[in-house]
Amino acid sequence: MRKQIAAANWKMNLTWAEGKKLLEDILAAGISLTENQLAVFGVPSPYLTLADAVVSGKKNYSIAAQNCYDKKSGAYTGEIAAGMLQSVGIKYCIIGHSERREYFNESNQMLAEKLNRCLESGITPIFCCGEALAIREAGTQNKFVETQLKESLFHLSAEQLKSIVIAYEPIWAIGTGKTASTEQAQEMHACVRSVLAAKYGAAVADEISILYGGSVKANNAKDLFSCPDVDGGLVGGASLVAADFITIIQSLK
Ligand code: PGA
Repeated sequence: MRKQIAAANWKMNLTWAEGKKLLEDILAAGISLTENQLAVFGVPSPYLTLADAVVSGKKNYSIAAQNCYDKKSGAYTGEIAAGMLQSVGIKYCIIGHSERREYFNESNQMLAEKLNRCLESGITPIFCCGEALAIREAGTQNKFVETQLKESLFHLSAEQLKSIVIAYEPIWAIGTGKTASTEQAQEMHACVRSVLAAKYGAAVADEISILYGGSVKANNAKDLFSCPDVDGGLVGGASLVAADFITIIQSLK
């Protein structure tokens, strides 16, 4: 059975004092997660091990990096390798967030390499895909997302694919307060699963957690997560407010 995941993406927000308090406030709610549920916090790089120490020992609470580089090691000043994340005990890494694709020119091919580096190091990538508004308005979003998946994932074996998490994040819904409707989310998630099923078979596709991202809030998480192919969310703004993210975790199936 695939995991249901509430993933926070703090982006470039919060001091460590603020972040630590946020984590502690969320943990203080004492939500016990089932075997099948997971809460992951995508924190800025300097906080990775500090944050990991705060959640350590809490079952099914984990920390994610927000990015890593596509090379193993070398003269790449300022970059972080997947193997470095592994060496300090980090188990998840967000890959290909639309902000990285847009501001740092990350291509589908580069992201394929980043996924390779994560998998080589035993890091579970949370791979982001999703279309911009113009593509949605042209009605070509399914084809667009299919190409993102094909170009970044289809070199993976079925076994490798099973160790990644996918996040569908329509760019027009990120940070805009404009959430995809449950119908739009379910339709795209089913499309993503069918693209994976066509290549890897339905049994493999069925095991992949597909998160929805884009203005997930405390008041819409339950509806979104109740869609059959939506397995939780990747949450930006609302993950910075303890009470909101607590409700979002509690909205997991
Ligand atoms: P948002 O961000 O929840 O603030 O829309 C989601 C994301 O970018 O991952």
